[in-house]
Amino acid sequence: VDVADRNVFGSHEIAYECLADTERTERFQRAISATVRRGDRVLELGTGTGILSIMAAHAGASRVDAYEISHPTAEIARANIAANGFGGVVSVVEADVVATNFPDAAADPYDVLIAEMITVGLLEEQLVPAFNNVVARGALKADASCIPRGQVTRAEIVECDFSWFGYAMPTIQIEQTWQERKVRRVLLDDVLVADVDFAAAVERGTGIEPTIEEDVRGQAVADGLANAIRLTSDSVLSSEIVSGWTQCMNSPAVIPIPERAVRAGDALDGRIAYEMGGELSTVRWNWR
Ligand SMILES: C[S@@+](CC[C@H](N)C(=O)[O-])C[C@H]1O[C@@H](n2cnc3c(N)ncnc32)[C@H](O)[C@@H]1O
Repeated sequence: VDVADRNVFGSHEIAYECLADTERTERFQRAISATVRRGDRVLELGTGTGILSIMAAHAGASRVDAYEISHPTAEIARANIAANGFGGVVSVVEADVVATNFPDAAADPYDVLIAEMITVGLLEEQLVPAFNNVVARGALKADASCIPRGQVTRAEIVECDFSWFGYAMPTIQIEQTWQERKVRRVLLDDVLVADVDFAAAVERGTGIEPTIEEDVRGQAVADGLANAIRLTSDSVLSSEIVSGWTQCMNSPAVIPIPERAVRAGDALDGRIAYEMGGELSTVRWNWR
């Protein structure tokens, strides 16, 4: 995918919304202060306003390289870092973390990776391709810590109201915390579809397979019209801190599928497939 076609979540609006998502940002703050040790070398992927790198410097990092693809956003991060007196510790590097070779890691790899390039299923942001690039370049120490350590994604089969303003709009819906719920009922409860373990991948020194293909099957728990899959994710930020849906992170996706009328107790059986980092349009569903 060309950079210009990718959804990099790089606008001022998104960077500020992330900063102001206090539930999310406080969880990262706790994970960073539990993880970063005095003298650590830290790599941040996608720094936005710079907030997580500032927190890492405050936690005692000796060096933080904060990568950002968007020039205007990188300038904001630099100003925020200087405003907090961390200009000597945190450097903002303008580069695409999916492709760069992290030159400063060659002599001395990083102790900690921080990467809030997180969306539901790791579909829309480039965290998995970026992580794979970091590992392939040998940019992390073998015992490096990752924030997030992992992410778990679950699927439900649901009946969703796809009507808007009197029109049928069977389009992917990204649920928002402030929005009226359009899912009318859950027909099949949560089924685990992905368990991504960044911490284990660092230990192995291998990347993460980006293709997910899983059966979603079970007994219908209600009568209804199965017309969508709802994906939800929980990100493991540290061994103690897990973050699911907040205003700016892991918003559930409701994805239309071919309709099927179901009765409680029916066996439901389908298969979901998608590419992490490949965008929501890569999600495929097949009924059996
Ligand atoms: C969701 S925001 C998080 C910002 C900040 N780390 C925080 O937690 O508040 C993701 C940031 O990653 C940047 N980004 C996305 N893809 C990138 C890429 N391929 N290379 C470098 N930066 C990227 C975006 O421009 C955006 O600023």
